Amino acid sequence: MASHLTRRDFLALSAAGAAGLAVSCQMPGYLKPGQKLRHAAVGVGGMGSGDLGQISSHPDVQVVALCDVDSNNLAKAAALHPAARTYRDWRVMLREEKRSIDSVCVSTPDHMHAPVTMSAMAMGKHVYCQKPLTHTVVEARRIAEFARKSGVVTQMGIQNRSGQNYLRAIEVFRSGICGPVEQAHVWTDRPAGWWPQDVVKPAGGDIPPDTLEWDLWLGVAPKREYKNDTYHAFVWRGRKDFGTGAQGDMACHLMDPALWFLGLGQPSTIRSNGPKPKADSFPLWSEVQYRFGPTELTHQDGIDLTWHDGGRKPQSLFDEYGITDPYANGSLFVGKKGALMVSPYEPCRFFPVGEAERALELPDIAGRNHWHQWVDACFNRVEATAGFDYAGLLTEVALLGNVALEFPGQTLQWNASQMNFGSNILANGFLHKDYRAGWVVPGLG
Ligand SMILES: NC(=O)c1ccc[n+]([C@@H]2O[C@H](COP(=O)([O-])OP(=O)(O)OC[C@H]3O[C@@H](n4cnc5c(N)ncnc54)[C@H](O)[C@@H]3O)[C@@H](O)[C@H]2O)c1
Repeated sequence: MASHLTRRDFLALSAAGAAGLAVSCQMPGYLKPGQKLRHAAVGVGGMGSGDLGQISSHPDVQVVALCDVDSNNLAKAAALHPAARTYRDWRVMLREEKRSIDSVCVSTPDHMHAPVTMSAMAMGKHVYCQKPLTHTVVEARRIAEFARKSGVVTQMGIQNRSGQNYLRAIEVFRSGICGPVEQAHVWTDRPAGWWPQDVVKPAGGDIPPDTLEWDLWLGVAPKREYKNDTYHAFVWRGRKDFGTGAQGDMACHLMDPALWFLGLGQPSTIRSNGPKPKADSFPLWSEVQYRFGPTELTHQDGIDLTWHDGGRKPQSLFDEYGITDPYANGSLFVGKKGALMVSPYEPCRFFPVGEAERALELPDIAGRNHWHQWVDACFNRVEATAGFDYAGLLTEVALLGNVALEFPGQTLQWNASQMNFGSNILANGFLHKDYRAGWVVPGLG
């Protein structure tokens, strides 16, 4: 990557890497009234087209550059933003546009989030990055540290955090409706056939379509052959080299309330009660139990937070609280007074102990535009509520679950400050990854 950056950029990035933390080479600044946020988008198909549509609908945004490895997706975005310059390689785009852009949106597959994000932040660019923030636990920590020190304005793409259902649910929760929370559960129906999991690496390969730059799509990931309908687009999610499986895909949306409402920090232990994954992909279902220390809103001894995916749910609790129609994706906060069911897609519901469901009078709170909030934060008008400081923690917690999957039945002791599982070198080996030769990104080691 260094060959695509100027010497000055590279030295700054190298210093960042050497220090573990980083100071960006160009000091970021808030935009001033009357200015436009000159914006660049990396990955403009799939969710990226939605991100671009939302960000560009803000009146203070000017779309300057677009990048995608798929020329069809790039052409569709360019047709909507004809004044924008187009690129296939984000490294070339950052080099050539470094003086013409203020911000970058990263909407690529998960394995490329951290490399693009770190490189953009090192140039002093404000960044909106899709969830999960990164592909590995170590990347999440490095990105959060860098964002904190460099002062760029950041936001992770967990738009439900700005949505009406969560904003109402946290008010209901804060009224003390459950009492101190003793346990919490989070569940998703994914992968549910949306994308393959529990699959092996395919043998052989196909010739990539002319429209796709396959080597650039691979990016930092180990080289492998292209295969039709196997990776690009969307279905890369279950493959460990590119995606983060059902938990990585959904936990940043669904575990957000648990961390946010309860004020949880880092877990102390993590344990998988599900099957061990195959080498190339995540399993069809999982159950991961986290232990967190106490907060003001939990039982004095702390709580267990359990993640369920693949359609698994905390059925015995549903039976106990008379929840006959649980949401397909949601979370449950269980305290002495009852259980609050929360979902990004549906209104929260309350199930008191020993009584039928109690109808809630939901507070009069409207949802906000998560993307516009970030743009406004770049002008210092508001604070972004999913900045990388918080998003890094949330992503770390989600991705620790994927590490635990590799060690079914073992309780892993997480030393958050040392960022390791003590002397468990096997588990420590899953906290990060090697980047492909030529693709090492300083600051992400
Ligand atoms: N916040 C949400 O609700 C939400 C919803 C869907 C997806 N996402 C996230 O958005 C990201 C993208 O998911 P998707 O479903 O759109 O995937 P996708 O594969 O459908 O689309 C990815 C886009 O990025 C392009 N791309 C791939 N590698 C690239 C690279 N190195 N440089 C430039 N462009 C590249 C692809 O050509 C494609 O246009 C994922 O991280 C996913 O988790 C978030």
